[in-house]
Amino acid sequence: TPAPPLDLNNIQGDILGGLPKKTETYFFFDVTNVDRFKANMTQFIPHVKTSAGIVKDREAIKEHKRQKRPGLVPMAAVNVSFSHLGLQKLGITDDLSDSSFTTGQRKDAEVLGDPGTKNGDTFTPAWEAPFLKDIHGVIFVAGDCHASVHKKLDEIKHIFGVGTSHASISEVTHVRGDVRPDPVSAHEHFGFLDGISNPAVDQFDQNPFPGQDSIRPGFILAKENGDSRAAARPDWAKDGSFLTFRYLFQMVPEFDDFLESNPIVLPGLSRKEGSELLGARIVGRWKSGAPIEITPLKDDPKQAEDSQRNNDFDFGDSLVRGDQTKCPFAAHIRKTYPRNDLEGPPLKADIDNRRIIRRGIQFGPEVTIQEHHDKKTHHGRGLLFACYSSSIDDGFHFIQQSWANAPNFPVNAVTSAGPIPPLDGVVPGFDAIIGQKVGGGIRQISGTNPNDPTTNITLPDQDFVIPRGGEYFFSPSISALKTKFAA
Ligand code: HEM
Repeated sequence: TPAPPLDLNNIQGDILGGLPKKTETYFFFDVTNVDRFKANMTQFIPHVKTSAGIVKDREAIKEHKRQKRPGLVPMAAVNVSFSHLGLQKLGITDDLSDSSFTTGQRKDAEVLGDPGTKNGDTFTPAWEAPFLKDIHGVIFVAGDCHASVHKKLDEIKHIFGVGTSHASISEVTHVRGDVRPDPVSAHEHFGFLDGISNPAVDQFDQNPFPGQDSIRPGFILAKENGDSRAAARPDWAKDGSFLTFRYLFQMVPEFDDFLESNPIVLPGLSRKEGSELLGARIVGRWKSGAPIEITPLKDDPKQAEDSQRNNDFDFGDSLVRGDQTKCPFAAHIRKTYPRNDLEGPPLKADIDNRRIIRRGIQFGPEVTIQEHHDKKTHHGRGLLFACYSSSIDDGFHFIQQSWANAPNFPVNAVTSAGPIPPLDGVVPGFDAIIGQKVGGGIRQISGTNPNDPTTNITLPDQDFVIPRGGEYFFSPSISALKTKFAA
């Protein structure tokens, strides 16, 4: 019997559809008056954009483009999510069965490898001050322009009486993300096209692209088919999803300088092409988005923009053969989603529970001429990283700690066919984009030179991506919002 359809009217819109956005503001808050908050929620809930609403919005955007109408469709979509501290504050004591969520990201930061200081047993991450405080929840508004988002956020603040004597919440901080200007609007700040590869969700994504793996909804939505923790979770958690938020600063001039100073030397490549190749091998895709597994030595922008082809690859038997000629084992996209390195058609379950749906947005200005000249960051910029999964322990937390930070991964990784055996004389190394050093040691990656896969390249002491805040949240279903969070 076919699985029952997902109730898209009950699932918040960012989880499955993704809020359409040119700009997005995350408004982090504390609940200051529980009774008033619950009353205000009743007024707020109709503003929450559902996954069904997003499907409609996306159709409107398509129609707008099809008719070649000028500008963007005006829109502002709102979602809401709560931290463990927020649930506690509201008297919701059910265990959602995810220890990262219950711990909270500030206390998890040491395990994630975030920089910080240790005083006795207490680790304090080197985060922006507001993220060191308790955060109960986040309301986020995405839209076509600042004016649309401001207007919507003002309406929402008004509902909760923010800034007045009858307020039920207070602002902890807010951060704004903006997509970059054209022609790099879909690219993150290091210059690489982003948002290409997300899993398709059964019963939601009707026509997955070739190579886009379909996963059961329970890997993203609590208590749906595939959620291994379903039995331990309260009924109201159904159709909610955990949101990991990370405030990630990117050291762009320093990254560029590293590529420029360490071009891969190959016959026929100019110095500039050698630098571009190093960047591509660190990420696993060219800046255009073309996967190096398919087009290892030369960018292919046509391949990149074709969604029928830009995800249609796996890593063949290169891991078994210890062969990094096409794609280094430590390339960012291979570390964070090793595709068939860990799965084989019968073993797909080994990796499905590690899938996350990414929904980030860039923040901060373009690199200035001065920064480019100084090879040094003077203005904060980076990624408001956001992702969803039905478990943070199995998703973000695991990917960061056990894959990106682990120089040995995928060696020894457990699969149903047994652990991945050691590679002959090769330690794959760090994910040079997000890998963080835990304890001592130097940060190296192997296999950056396709002609000489055993040489290691040492990364600078200063990471290219620096976490400066974050929290773990749960985005409840609409029915849960109504029954547990409103009165
Ligand atoms: C893919 C950049 C942080 C997980 C990508 C891609 C780029 C990128 C350019 C390729 C485009 C695509 O496949 O959609 C970055 C940058 C980051 C960052 C610049 C930090 C500033 C993270 C973090 C995680 C993560 C923190 C999770 C721990 C992934 C995953 C993919 C991906 C799972 C998809 C891989 C695939 O399906 O092939 N990232 N990323 N990224 N990234 Fe990141």
